[in-house]
Amino acid sequence: MALTTGPRLAQGVSHLGTESAFAVLARARALERRGRSIVHLEIGQPDFPTPEHVVEAAVAAMARGETGYTPSAGTAEFREVVAHELAASRGIDVVADRVLIANGAKLLLFLTILAVCDPGDEVIYPDPGFPIYESAIRWAGAVPVPLALHDELDFSFSIDELSDRLGQRTKLVIVNSPNNPTGGVVSAEVLSAAAELILKSPAWVLSDEVYRRIAYDREVASIASVPGMLERCVLLDGLSKTYAMTGWRCGYAAVPAPLVDPLTRLITNSVSCVPGFVQSAGIAALSGPQDCVTAMVEEFRRRRDLVVARLNALPGFSCREPQGAFYAFPDVSAVPTPSQQLADRLLEEAGVALLAGEGFGAQGEQHLRISYANSSTQIAVALDRMREFLEAGPL
Ligand SMILES: Cc1ncc(COP(=O)(O)O)c(C=O)c1O
Repeated sequence: MALTTGPRLAQGVSHLGTESAFAVLARARALERRGRSIVHLEIGQPDFPTPEHVVEAAVAAMARGETGYTPSAGTAEFREVVAHELAASRGIDVVADRVLIANGAKLLLFLTILAVCDPGDEVIYPDPGFPIYESAIRWAGAVPVPLALHDELDFSFSIDELSDRLGQRTKLVIVNSPNNPTGGVVSAEVLSAAAELILKSPAWVLSDEVYRRIAYDREVASIASVPGMLERCVLLDGLSKTYAMTGWRCGYAAVPAPLVDPLTRLITNSVSCVPGFVQSAGIAALSGPQDCVTAMVEEFRRRRDLVVARLNALPGFSCREPQGAFYAFPDVSAVPTPSQQLADRLLEEAGVALLAGEGFGAQGEQHLRISYANSSTQIAVALDRMREFLEAGPL
């Protein structure tokens, strides 16, 4: 029998989204190979090295022979340390049996969505938000239900709008504070009100708190701290952002009892485990000195102040002061160029790599995401180039 077509891909593949940060990075690198100077404000990772004592712990662990498989849920020692950290920092009861370790917070959020969503289930998620949420929701065949983060609410959401979207079909609500891409932080009051509504619904919660430690002048509240929430909530955090360990690929979560086994099976079925030496490095990171984190956050605060002041001095730009993470999200609606085109031209013509807000959801339109995980000197160069570009016109 003659084949009329070649082998085909699964339909689900066409539903997978991506992160524009990786696409823009590839374009920026291509320009650099052609000799262009590019300032990188697109990447969402700390530009600091992993703290020395953490690297040393990994090297020592490798030398001890921690180079084989570990249990899929994580080593008993690291799960214990993570449980203690999550419990102490959020003021909640977390036992090690409820803690799972995986290769990045991203994998844990992807697997959580796979574990709880059937086709047709609704998932409420922040818009603008980390693009992998919507991608994973669609991959699972579930229905993405965006919940707007509003500029005028300092990038928090409206409880009325949450209430309008929450119903019997809602399977999961995703909360992300501090937020990528806006740098917004949701207040304890809003989280309590949200928890009260969610507890009356059948929904699980995924609280993505990977930027919790990177916050300025305020404590970041967790929805997991609201009484009753721990049985509903996957409390997600990781080593990437806090300890400048993005490439180590290690995230962790405290999860409700019914999710421990399914998520562990998903880890076994996919990546098996996180390398033992990475988990030993994680123990050193969480239980060692924290002054490296304090110093990094202080530096981010200085850059935030610089970025916000310089952005607000640009024609057509209006930037709120981000309260956490390392992103600024200026409104550029007064610039007479659509934001995607503006981002493209800033890369090609001014040598500044940054992201258009629409890559993070419809509410991100007419914004740019600027990562200030780059030195103050480079940030100043980028802002000079942007000013020159905007003033030169035509736009
Ligand atoms: C909101 C958010 N969640 C999760 C992640 C993924 O972190 P990890 O490196 O632990 O996979 C990121 C990374 O950019 C993020 O911005």
